[in-house]
Amino acid sequence: MRVPFNNLKRQYLAMADAIQEALQRVAASGWYIMGPEHDAFEREFAAYCGCPHAIAVGNGTDALELALRCAGCGAGDEIVTASNAGGYTTTAVVLVGATPVYADVDPATLTLSPESVAAALSNNTKAVVITHLFGQLGDVAGIRNAIGSKAIFLIEDCAQAHGAMAGGIRAGALGDLGTFSFYPTKNLGALGDGGAVVCGRDDLAGKLRALRQYGWQGRYKAVTPYGRNSRMDEMQAAVLRAKLPHLDEGNETRRGIVARYRAAAKNTRLHIVHAPSPSYVGHLCVALHEDRDALRERLAGLGVDTAIHYPYLDLCQPAMADAVWRAVSLPVSEDAVAHILSLPCFPELTGAEVEQVCDAIAACA
Ligand SMILES: Cc1ncc(COP(=O)(O)O)c(C=O)c1O
Repeated sequence: MRVPFNNLKRQYLAMADAIQEALQRVAASGWYIMGPEHDAFEREFAAYCGCPHAIAVGNGTDALELALRCAGCGAGDEIVTASNAGGYTTTAVVLVGATPVYADVDPATLTLSPESVAAALSNNTKAVVITHLFGQLGDVAGIRNAIGSKAIFLIEDCAQAHGAMAGGIRAGALGDLGTFSFYPTKNLGALGDGGAVVCGRDDLAGKLRALRQYGWQGRYKAVTPYGRNSRMDEMQAAVLRAKLPHLDEGNETRRGIVARYRAAAKNTRLHIVHAPSPSYVGHLCVALHEDRDALRERLAGLGVDTAIHYPYLDLCQPAMADAVWRAVSLPVSEDAVAHILSLPCFPELTGAEVEQVCDAIAACA
């Protein structure tokens, strides 16, 4: 039997009635963009995150770009972030014309290290983007401390951490602005693209609502510079509304799978990075192994699909060859990129499949 890395069809089939009902409701309504489903999803997602405002947008990269614009970031500004998080923040920083500055990550979580952020700050720093990578909340409090009283926005990229909590506060409600992706593989995934920004401040929410729709304040009156079209459609909003009530249960199942892999890896050379806790929602189960590529081959031979998140640091991407960026020393990020792999971890894995992965880990890691 082959254990797939992911299988989105299983999730659809498990919820087919609710999803079909949602799609038909929208089709029959005659309202397809920013209608009642959209507004209801914004309210329901804001309530879930414990934030006064959620602003739905087209995808998670737009959410990052619009959050940076909302924070006033542009040419001449530096944005401190991690280099191991798949390039999404870098894309957004480059789009707004600012300069990415890469800080290192903490070996225990592989998310931004507050000490390294402190070393990366300058008089030009306008924002820090902390990615809650792999489903693990980063150290927002530590980074707030590093920023101190400087006028620097703290933006959380929560694309992989829907529902993760620190001290009873959810991802997105810890910083100044929180961005989300609802790409289909996310813990809360649409049947297409989607994203959102959450925040507490009314003025920021108003600016984001303008930025996502041509800079409009009311119909056809563009008042906010750099506005564009980044809206969520009714179909995606309705699907997300159907799925949101099941998010916590899915997160719990993911944590249970990781717990089993950790037990199986106990006497092996495989180090599973994150432990189940409210601050980790198991978006990805990542592990480090000294001989990563050979291990992937052995696991594949035992029917277990794996992946690498991510194979390149942002500053090493060919697309960044001519870009302007700065970095402090990144030994932890550089070590992780060479040794990291991701194991199958999604709520619809069967018990037999999880067992097979555990046996494979015990046999060859
Ligand atoms: C950490 C992170 N940030 C941002 C994004 C961008 O989201 P999207 O693909 O919806 O643009 C993703 C995922 O794709 C992600 O994993």
